Amino acid sequence: MESPPATPISPNNPQGQGGSIDRRRENGHGSSHVSPCAAEKAPENHCWPILSTRPPRPLTGTLHLERDGSSRPPQYGSGGWSVVYKAMYYENQPSGTGDQTLGLPSPPPSPRNVTSGTAGARVVAVKAPLPHHLENPEAVIFREAQILNYIQPSPPGSNTSGPETAHVVAFLGYEPCLRAAVMEAVPLTLAEFSRTRGETARASLTTDNMAVPVVGDEQWFTFASGLIAGLAYLRRLKVVHGDIKPANVLLRPRSGEQADVFDAVYCDFSSSHVLEDGLTPPPISAVTPDYAAPELLNAFHKRPGSGPPVANFASDVFALGATLLVPAVGHDIYAGTSSRMQKLTLALRGNPLGQVRCMDQASRVRPGGLVDRVVRDALVGIPEDRLDPCIWHSWMVEEGERRKEKQRRMGRQASSSRPELLDVMLAFKDLE
Ligand SMILES: Nc1ncnc2c1ncn2[C@@H]1O[C@H](COP(=O)(O)OP(=O)(O)OP(=O)(O)O)[C@@H](O)[C@H]1O
Ligand SMILES: [Mg+2]
Repeated sequence: MESPPATPISPNNPQGQGGSIDRRRENGHGSSHVSPCAAEKAPENHCWPILSTRPPRPLTGTLHLERDGSSRPPQYGSGGWSVVYKAMYYENQPSGTGDQTLGLPSPPPSPRNVTSGTAGARVVAVKAPLPHHLENPEAVIFREAQILNYIQPSPPGSNTSGPETAHVVAFLGYEPCLRAAVMEAVPLTLAEFSRTRGETARASLTTDNMAVPVVGDEQWFTFASGLIAGLAYLRRLKVVHGDIKPANVLLRPRSGEQADVFDAVYCDFSSSHVLEDGLTPPPISAVTPDYAAPELLNAFHKRPGSGPPVANFASDVFALGATLLVPAVGHDIYAGTSSRMQKLTLALRGNPLGQVRCMDQASRVRPGGLVDRVVRDALVGIPEDRLDPCIWHSWMVEEGERRKEKQRRMGRQASSSRPELLDVMLAFKDLE
């Protein structure tokens, strides 16, 4: 089995040979490495500079926030900057007619305002500033809304919207009264899903399934393909995510026949920036050691010679590689560590793959297996030697084709009646 090639495999370069393409990243700061992304331009409806001049599109319909017993709306989650509330959105009701307050005191919800024209009603997630925050969460969320707007220039579902939301949570608009970004609701994170699947897998460990990712071989591959495609898309738009981790990946259920399959989408662009010409990217204000690239951790902790802590495409690649280990092994990378200091010390070594191989689910990430082949070149310590997101994506597309071919060979019978058997067969086929 191969790992991602030194040159991309594409319709124009089917063997992945020749050309001047370097397998490493193009760092956006004058690097000489050429990436397949570098030649591509942003979609036509993107123009530069975008963030400094363009406010996010406003929400056009009406939000209706349910209240629980304590008259607070129900929450999907919260983080360092925000609380994410659950709300109803009425697309066909002009804005300003419903209950659009989160703070207290507020009037009781007014069903009168929202009962007519419910055709465009949907449940949404409202990301609003964390109350009583010492810094300026309003500005962080406004900027996040600008970035989401830039990534998705047309409202989802509109005539002009493209496939942008396939790998990024859909942005519906900015709500100025609440100072909130309103998004599609996707109430399951990769962190939660991996944890619960990990518990189940550990309870039913056999020699047959011990080499398969805890979420299943096919589902893991779907997560990896989607997130790598999303990273390549962000790379083409010169967007650095800045905080890729399982808690910032949401799992959108597919509809129809594949209802038990999830697609992974990025959320939480609060640490993101766009590499706009002439603008210096902002240093990061916080890091998650489990997923941060070692150079970013070093810079954040002001190690000598490390420069300002600025996330870039290479640190996103590392963070995604580390993130993909979690649905493979079903536990945190540094789950066995006894203190934050110990975790930081290990994370600074920049070897999460080696770390999970020291733990009890090591067989799921064994050398030469699927997970290893997909992530190992993303998890190298030297940022210049890491895979470029677009090359990574090209390789995954080819790998997807190889897998389909393998599945065809192994027979449709196993695929349709015993999906878990197919997972096991694919895992052992890896070893051949
Ligand atoms: N669109 C969504 N639908 C459902 N739940 C969501 C959505 N967006 C975010 N969440 C939930 O809210 C949590 C916090 O959201 P998010 O990560 O965007 O906030 P944050 O304040 O920027 O967090 P952080 O501390 O990572 O910076 C997520 O981990 C997730 O559980
Ligand atoms: Mg978050």
